[in-house]
Formats: sequence, C-alpha cells, structure tokens
Amino acid sequence: MSVSQSEYLELAMELTEHNRRYYVEAAPIISDYEYDRLLEKLRKIEQSHPNWVVDWSPAQRVGHQPLSSFPKVVRDEPMLSLDNTYDEAELKAFHDRVLRGLDIDPADPQAASQLTYVVEPKIDGFGIELTFESGVLALAATRGDGTTGEDVTANLRTVRGVPLRLRQEVDVVVRGEVYMTRADFAKLNQARAAAGEETFKNPRNTAAGSIKLLDPRQVAERPMHVTLYEVVDGERFARGHFEVLAWMREVGLPTSAHNSEAHTWDDLHQQVQDWFERRQLLPFEADGLVIKVNSFEQRAILGATSKFPRWAIAYKFPAERVTTVVVDLEINVGRTGAVTPVAILEPVDISGTTVKRASLHNWDQVQRLGLGRGDRVLLEKAGEIIPQVLEVVKRASDQAFEAPTECPSCHTTLTREEGKVVLTCPNALSCPEQLLASLEFFAGRGQMNIDGLGTKICQALLDAGLVHNVADLFILTKKQLLALDRFAEMSAQNLLVAIAAARDNATFSRLLAALGVPLVGGVAARAIAQRYRSMNELLALIDSTRPDQGFVEALTEIDGIGNVMARSLEKFLRDPNTRTVLALLVERGVNPVEPVAPSGQGHLNGNTFVITGTLSRPRSEIKKSIEAAGGKVVTSVSKKTDYLVAGEKTGKSKLTAAEKHGVEVLDEAALDGLLAQAE
Ligand code: IVH
Repeated sequence: MSVSQSEYLELAMELTEHNRRYYVEAAPIISDYEYDRLLEKLRKIEQSHPNWVVDWSPAQRVGHQPLSSFPKVVRDEPMLSLDNTYDEAELKAFHDRVLRGLDIDPADPQAASQLTYVVEPKIDGFGIELTFESGVLALAATRGDGTTGEDVTANLRTVRGVPLRLRQEVDVVVRGEVYMTRADFAKLNQARAAAGEETFKNPRNTAAGSIKLLDPRQVAERPMHVTLYEVVDGERFARGHFEVLAWMREVGLPTSAHNSEAHTWDDLHQQVQDWFERRQLLPFEADGLVIKVNSFEQRAILGATSKFPRWAIAYKFPAERVTTVVVDLEINVGRTGAVTPVAILEPVDISGTTVKRASLHNWDQVQRLGLGRGDRVLLEKAGEIIPQVLEVVKRASDQAFEAPTECPSCHTTLTREEGKVVLTCPNALSCPEQLLASLEFFAGRGQMNIDGLGTKICQALLDAGLVHNVADLFILTKKQLLALDRFAEMSAQNLLVAIAAARDNATFSRLLAALGVPLVGGVAARAIAQRYRSMNELLALIDSTRPDQGFVEALTEIDGIGNVMARSLEKFLRDPNTRTVLALLVERGVNPVEPVAPSGQGHLNGNTFVITGTLSRPRSEIKKSIEAAGGKVVTSVSKKTDYLVAGEKTGKSKLTAAEKHGVEVLDEAALDGLLAQAE
C-alpha cells in the first residue's frame, strides 16, 4: 500500500470526524462496518510507517503496557462537589438564596429576565477531568479528593466517546462523567455470569472500578460512555454555560442531549416535575438533576464555599424505599461528644447495597417515630447517602426506645444545648469513647497519618491509661508499650517510629485538621494554614482579639472560610482545655509550620488574581509568573479577589464585578510592575 504521510493524517482526521458525528451528534454518516474498515486501513498504514503515528490517532486508543500505579495529579482549580436538595422546598430555598445573592427582587416584573438556569441530568457515574493542549488530549484525571486526582489518561483514551483531538487547537480543561448504560451493564453481567465470573453490583461502581483497572486493554473491553458538563474558565468561550455547552459540541466534546434552560421559577419547577417520569427513559442511571446558574458573571458574584459552588445544586430524585425490621438500638458517642442513636436492622438490599444499620441522627427523631424493638420501618437510600428511617409501618411493641440520660461510655450526665436536638457528653477530656474516636481520627489518613495506630491499639493505649489526650502519644516509651499484650519488640518499635515520623512530617494544616474542630475539615485547614502558617500564628491572632471581635472577621477574609466555621474554630481555640493540649503538643515537639504552597511563596503571597481579556502573553504564562511570586489565580471575581488583570477586550461583566467588590483593576503594564517588585 503506498500512501503519503499527508494521506495518513487525512485518514486519521476523517476517522476523528466520524467519531465526533457518532458520539457528539449521534448522527453518523457511515455504517459501523465502513468505520471499522477505515480504521483497519489506518492501522495498516501505522504498521508500515510507525514514525508517522500521531498520539491522537483513532487507532491509538488502547495502550499495550499495563501500569503499576496511577501517577498523582494536583490541580489548581479543585473539582468541587454539589450541595444536595431532596424536595421542592429546598430547591425553592436555593432559588431564593441565588436571588438574594444577586440582589434580584423577586417582586420586580423584570426579575425573570435577569436569571437563567441550565438543567442537566445528574449522571450517576465517575467524575473525570480532561485537559486538551492545542486541541489534543493531554491528560485525563480522576476527581480524587478534589485537589489531587489520579492520571488515568491511558484508560480514558480507550473510551471511544473521549475525543483525542478537537476541531479547534484550544487549550481547555473540561469535566464530566464516565458511566455505563443500564443495557450495557446488564449485558456485561450476563456475559460474566455465563463465564462463571462474579457479577457486578451496579453500573456506577462498575464504571468507577473499570477506570481504576491497571491494564488499559481490560478497560477497553468495558462498554463505557462519557458526557462532559463543565468547562473550566468557561467565560473564555462565552458569557453563559448554555452557550459553552453548544461550543463544546461544536469542537467535538460530547455533552448531554438532555440539557435545557429554565427562565423562571415556574419553568424550573415544571421541568423538575417532568423529569420524575422522564428519568426512567434515560438509558443510564441518573440520580437527580443538576441546576446551574447560566451566567458566568452571576456565578462569580455567587462564589463558592470550600465544598460547593453557590451557583449550582443537585436536585436528587426521590430514592428507592424498602422495609425492614429494627433489631436493636445502638448508642454512639462521636469524637465531639454527640450521642447518637443507630438502628440495628435486619439486613436488607437497597439501591445495590446491603444495609444493616441506619443512623437515626438524634433522639427527637426516635421519639417522633415512636421507634421500638421489632418495629418494621420504611427505609430510604438515595445514591451514596446514608440510609434513613422514614417511618414505622408496623409496630411490634408499644415500648419506644428512650433517650439515655447518661453517657453509655463514661456515665457522665448528658447535656442538651438550649434549642438544639443533639445530646452531648460534656466529658470531652476523659470520656473513653470520645477519646477513642478523636485519637483514631487524629492518627488517621489525611490527618497525622500515624501508620498502625488503628482502633484496637488506640483502645489498648486508653485502657492502660497511657494516653489521656492526643499529646500523650508523643511521650509513649517502648517500655510502656512492651508492657501491653498487643506489643512485641518489633511492633512497639514500629509504632514509635511511626509516631516520630508523624511528628516530624506533619504540616500545620494536617495538625489543624487532626484536632477535629467541628466543621473544620482538611480543605478549610489548608486554606487557613496558607494564611496563618503555624499554631503560634493562629494563637497570636486569637490572643490579640477579644471574644467575638475580630477573629471571625480575620478568618472569613480567607477564601473558603465562612462565618459558622470561623465561630466554631474560635470557640475551640478559646477553650482552656484545648489550650492545655496545644501547649503539651508544642512541648512535645509537635509544632509544625505550613510549608510554602505549591504556588511558591513570594511577595504576592496571599493575593488572589483573576485574569481576563486579551493579553500579550498566553494566560497560562501570566498565571505561572503570578504563581511564582506566590499569588493565586482564580477564575471568578468575588470579594476575596485582590486584583483583576484586564487585557484588551475585557468583558464588561468582569469589570462590573470588580467594581462591585472593590477589586483593583490592573492593566498588563501595572501587573508587570507588581511582579517586578521584590519583597
Ligand atoms: S457540575 C461545580 N454537572 O455530580 C460543579 N456534575 O455531586 C460540579 N455530576 O462531582 C459538577 N452529572 O461527578 C455537574 N451535569 C452534571 C453532573 C455532575 C453528574 C456529578 C459530578 C460531581 C457530582 C456532584
């Protein structure tokens, strides 16, 4: 076969275009048979001319090397998740929050024209992010914890709907979902059953499991689809999300065929209603709808919490329900002292998992349900949400479970805060179950990472009276450990090494997260530690402010830290018992300083920038220089933005937002000046 290199490239391009027609437009113009013949031809050319082969060639989807692990990928713009609503009242509350956030008066006859939503099915699959450089797929990553994901490029390439090359040579990052259709899932399971292999539980877990297989050849055999639903920095391509979705299809990125716009509350409400029936018709599992504010300018004004954007919400479809019998009631004491009832159930299958326990949240709920031993109850589970007991359908006893008056663990009389439903064990310092839960949490992954310090060892240390608080871990001796049943020479040595390593490798953010301050999780702790780099700095702040004056204000300056969280931290840090433990930690060498952020520490440290408009250098380059000086680049202007870097043809929306939030606007020359200033 004699072909030229340009004929080869044309053929590769032609197949790419057929792929797009099939997966993006669902309107192929050639048969599968013809497609396969062209692909075969491409393969043959590649065999005779291996040096011509391009990475984006449709014949290069399946790599041949199994991987040993997936490299980590750290992203600048975390993949957030979505806040959930389960009924119309909650959805209405979201809508009202959006209106308030945007200063739109619902009574204004013009209100309807000022806000548009996009309604999309919420696909119950596996979240991924694709990065295209000059239009060619460069990276596919999992969501992971939002900030750090895994590089699964080799696997995603095998999914035929994932374009390897776009119709524009753009740099763009898009996010979406990989999933299996119900029909494909059923077929896969039939084939497995016939081959005597174990069948899979549900399409979602199967898709997730498939993406994490180490051999791309195996992944290629799993029938998977992809739908993309967000572009990072979408405002580069259009003013609103709906237009961006159209642009995505235009360049070859598959989006859902079921996305729609809603212009008024009534419209939104009607669409949500219609979906209750329509969802059954979808070929894949959807666990709800995602409702997003369309305008990027409005999204910027609404901003985000550390977990969720305030401009979008997931509206979950009513969940599957089953009934089962309550065998017993267990009483749990959490690490913050909350005493919660848990129903022990006769095991029952619901939404693909076996449920044996259900949290009852608080004692008011037990009372309201009038729940007793042997009662048959109605259970509900929505997606990943913990099963809920909705009501008693058949009573077996007239003896409802009663709320305890004392802590099941330390027998201290329980307290209940005025107006709150939570019963609490006030014995924070020495209640064994609270201590156990907080020790375990302190040692856990993502916190202090003390290898080998699990529930059983924590329990043994507490039982032996060797540990009374987390600081005591750092004065354990080998002799003490050897006196316990659980330890021999080696295991004692290992634990001490792990504890010392945790002390030496800790960062301030991990220590802060490990202390388990209510509401302050890992993400918030990292944000705080970027501003206050050690416990000393944070304590200096609290000691320089009077109670309820200044601390909350200072903390909420930090992106991602809200009022409620700041108040919780203030309460924690002002507690004398906390201070005792913190002092002991310092005394015992646990006093980490937060390392310099990946963006580097420089004179722009702590400053947040938004870049917009046309500039003389590529944005990615400008972003790098800002980061090298310690600054952070985000996509939307909010009150937490310090500078808006505005190039030519800057959209009015960004400038208005900057004005509204008092953000300083820099032209390129001014930015260069700022970058040139050293500390
Ligand atoms: S938007 C910041 N749109 O649901 C916006 N997410 O619970 C975040 N998901 O992590 C995502 N369909 O994996 C968005 N049409 C859709 C979606 C969708 C499914 C998943 C996604 C996300 C999770 C949030």
